[in-house]
Amino acid sequence: MSEDILNRYIETKEETVIDASKKVRVGIIGTGWIAEAHMASYLKMPDVEIVAGADLVEGKAEAFFQKYDRKVKCYRSHKEMLDDESLHLDAVSVCTYNRTHAECAIYALQKGVHVLLEKPMCVTLEEAVAIRKAEKESGKILSVGFQPRLDANMKMIKKIVESGKLGKVYYIQTGGGRRRGIPTPYGTSFIEEETAGIGALGDIGCYSLDMVLNAVGYPKPLTVTGYKSAFFGVRPDYYPNHPEYAEKFQVEDFAQPLYVLKEILFWTSVLHGR
Ligand SMILES: NC(=O)c1ccc[n+]([C@@H]2O[C@H](COP(=O)([O-])OP(=O)(O)OC[C@H]3O[C@@H](n4cnc5c(N)ncnc54)[C@H](O)[C@@H]3O)[C@@H](O)[C@H]2O)c1
Repeated sequence: MSEDILNRYIETKEETVIDASKKVRVGIIGTGWIAEAHMASYLKMPDVEIVAGADLVEGKAEAFFQKYDRKVKCYRSHKEMLDDESLHLDAVSVCTYNRTHAECAIYALQKGVHVLLEKPMCVTLEEAVAIRKAEKESGKILSVGFQPRLDANMKMIKKIVESGKLGKVYYIQTGGGRRRGIPTPYGTSFIEEETAGIGALGDIGCYSLDMVLNAVGYPKPLTVTGYKSAFFGVRPDYYPNHPEYAEKFQVEDFAQPLYVLKEILFWTSVLHGR
């Protein structure tokens, strides 16, 4: 592709004017690892006020907000927080482990609250359908945290595909890996069945899937097949400081799905390793 074509797709910066006179009242559900990133971003937004937080672990939400020197109301579950009408919540971030994404997102939508839901959207097809149904019925915005979709390079790929310069796309291959290995910095919620429910595929594979589907305009999937395995995660020597984690590893650290989309063959391989 010539430089001339690439230059035509380079983004221009858009100026946004923010009206901070009315603040969006936000609550954070699940105050673990990724909640730190949500908090850091919200703190930069002049039109957002963080008013509440919830975590199942006693004292965890309180300790989380103390670090930021914020006095917000804390609760022991998403339900407790969303049932408190005095909060007048506009939106919530769902930062819980995968297994509770669906129940938190659905409950929030049913309460008439916009939802920013961490990836992966959920763990089963039934949950995905129920979340979309709740979104439609609520009339509220549900956004799944696929932030790479908004990166300049991904926007550019989409524009190039849409421009037709590549011709008819009929085959796509992607991959993803975590070079820092299986994520266990704050415990085992990424590797246990009852909290994670899905391993490398849900953690990073969902990005490969979303970026590709977004770029090619979400063609209808005709069939999906796949392979998954657990190789590193089950080895005690993989976790020098926590060999006991090997016993808790119940998800996959490698997956290779194959999607037959309408007129496109797409496969991706994702790996948690080192
Ligand atoms: N977007 C990204 O770049 C990115 C990065 C890391 C993790 N994540 C995603 O974020 C999610 C959370 O990951 P994490 O590492 O922060 O997990 P974590 O285990 O550190 O934190 C999750 C917290 O949610 C709480 N929780 C669970 N169910 C709850 C409920 N019903 N009500 C209130 N609190 C509840 C747990 O007690 C826990 O403290 C995962 O789905 C993960 O895939 C996204």
